[in-house]
Amino acid sequence: MVKKINETVYYVGVNDRRIHRFENFWPMPHGVSYNSYVIKDDKITLIDTVEVSKFDKFLSNIIEVIGDRDIDYLVVNHMEPDHSGSIANIVMKYPNIKIIGNATTMPMIEGYYKQHDNLITVNADTVLDLGYHKLVFAPIPMVHWPESMVTYDTTDKILFSNDAFGTFGTLDGGIFDDELDIEFYIDEMRRYYSNIVGKYGMPVQKALKALGGLEIKVIAPSHGPVWRSDISRVIGLYDKWSKCEAEAGVVIIFGSMYGYTEEAAEIIAEAVVEAGVKNVRIYDASKTHLSYLLSEIWKYKGVVIGSCAYNGSSFTPIKNLCSSLELYMPKNKYLGIFGGMSWCGGGVSTLQKFAENIKWEMVAPAVEIKYTTKDSDISKLKEIGTNIAGLVIKG
Ligand code: FEO
Repeated sequence: MVKKINETVYYVGVNDRRIHRFENFWPMPHGVSYNSYVIKDDKITLIDTVEVSKFDKFLSNIIEVIGDRDIDYLVVNHMEPDHSGSIANIVMKYPNIKIIGNATTMPMIEGYYKQHDNLITVNADTVLDLGYHKLVFAPIPMVHWPESMVTYDTTDKILFSNDAFGTFGTLDGGIFDDELDIEFYIDEMRRYYSNIVGKYGMPVQKALKALGGLEIKVIAPSHGPVWRSDISRVIGLYDKWSKCEAEAGVVIIFGSMYGYTEEAAEIIAEAVVEAGVKNVRIYDASKTHLSYLLSEIWKYKGVVIGSCAYNGSSFTPIKNLCSSLELYMPKNKYLGIFGGMSWCGGGVSTLQKFAENIKWEMVAPAVEIKYTTKDSDISKLKEIGTNIAGLVIKG
């Protein structure tokens, strides 16, 4: 799709609706866009490329904008192959192109794509003069890789932000925030944030501070909508998510083989609602992919995790969830735990070890049910619900 951002800047990105799993792991029911931009100036400049399987469409978009002109510069903001994958093909088509990256980018370009010539290393003091447009560059390491940077057009105040402020979901018909159903993209943005960037909250905070002084009229990320109307909202959301500031709500995630642990989850949820919290979501970890569970955990302050006993430990999907959380380490959560011990136990005690590692504020009591739920269990499960509701309401 080719769209004008303004008179001299064009969107030339592509949609990928065939993709099943982003990074070969995260489900893509709504696909994803790989955004790229052409600045048509005295010097023609391409900002990032696209995943290589979409190269043909990408090239035809570029040619639609520049015709038979050459491309002078390719700015590489990020080396993950969803953006860098077409570098070698672009160089083959435009052999005189100069590739712009920072000192951390260059060994990656040489290593991944065997490009050794026409490389220009930039830093925070570099100004790339295209004629009308002047580009500057700011490193944002670990948002999402160590070489990640943003490019800022000081003339038209456009921030080419790469992964930052990106979303999952293809761009269907339009590219701007004010011409799309933005609530859909906000949900997909939180899923993208939590799945892809969520581990790097501190670097995101540093990046936001570094970019804080810029006058930004347009944010042009490498996935999802181009933000021109509600810029403060998306910056605010990134600020909030990177600080793990969450909404008053509770997500209950259970692992259950035969339904007893699910039944306990329902009892907790009822108590949460009775205590006045409307935002309650229950998920079966065997069915709902980690991608959505992480997104919901980022959304809500309260997290309750339940597991049946399985081989003397917690149930495999719950173990996977907990080990991912220990990797991502989101903060500022309240945690309740529960589960069934059946004949062997181990589900709840494994969750207790997780609780020690993750260091969220624990909500009493931890409940372990033997065989089936008894009245004494019900009152303790309700206590989890009431207590966590009280805490999330308090903030
Ligand atoms: Fe969209 Fe980290 O690549």
